[in-house]
Amino acid sequence: MEYNESEFLIETLVPKDELIISRTDLKGNITYANDTFAKISGYKIDELLGESHRILRHPDMPKRVFKNLWETIGLKEQWQGVIKNLRKDRGFYWVHATISGVYKNGQLIEFKSIRTPISFEEKLKYQKLYDEYRNIDKDNIRIIKYIN
Ligand SMILES: Cc1cc2nc3c(=O)[nH]c(=O)nc-3n(C[C@H](O)[C@H](O)[C@H](O)COP(=O)(O)O)c2cc1C
Repeated sequence: MEYNESEFLIETLVPKDELIISRTDLKGNITYANDTFAKISGYKIDELLGESHRILRHPDMPKRVFKNLWETIGLKEQWQGVIKNLRKDRGFYWVHATISGVYKNGQLIEFKSIRTPISFEEKLKYQKLYDEYRNIDKDNIRIIKYIN
């Protein structure tokens, strides 16, 4: 697919008074998405349902963050962390995410995620931290290398 590097530079700000909510099956396929999730990610709800949550994976995200996420929720614990997500138009948005299990009669049936905005300072901090993680782990390099 052809793309222009500059597309990756556009940030969408997550509103403070709205929550981005989704649920997935146990493999991470989206089973529910609210309007705010669709609006901020640039997809229609119908385009998100049935897709893997990986559809939002931004190339700046280190593998180890998602490894930790899946290990944590696999132990039936709640995971909280900061995620940089990729929009349909290849722009990005930062969120603080809380991910945990959905139980029915004591049995784990789905996962749910609620996301809220983070501050500008936190975005800088996590961008730097995640750049370091990818560097240490020899993950992919950053797409945007030069900003003139
Ligand atoms: C409830 C739930 C919400 C998730 N939310 C996101 C998300 O917002 N962005 C994202 O990149 N991955 C999210 N993931 C993780 C993805 O399923 C996936 O592990 C990740 O994108 C990395 O892809 P990979 O596992 O193929 O390496 C979520 C997983 C679950 C279970």
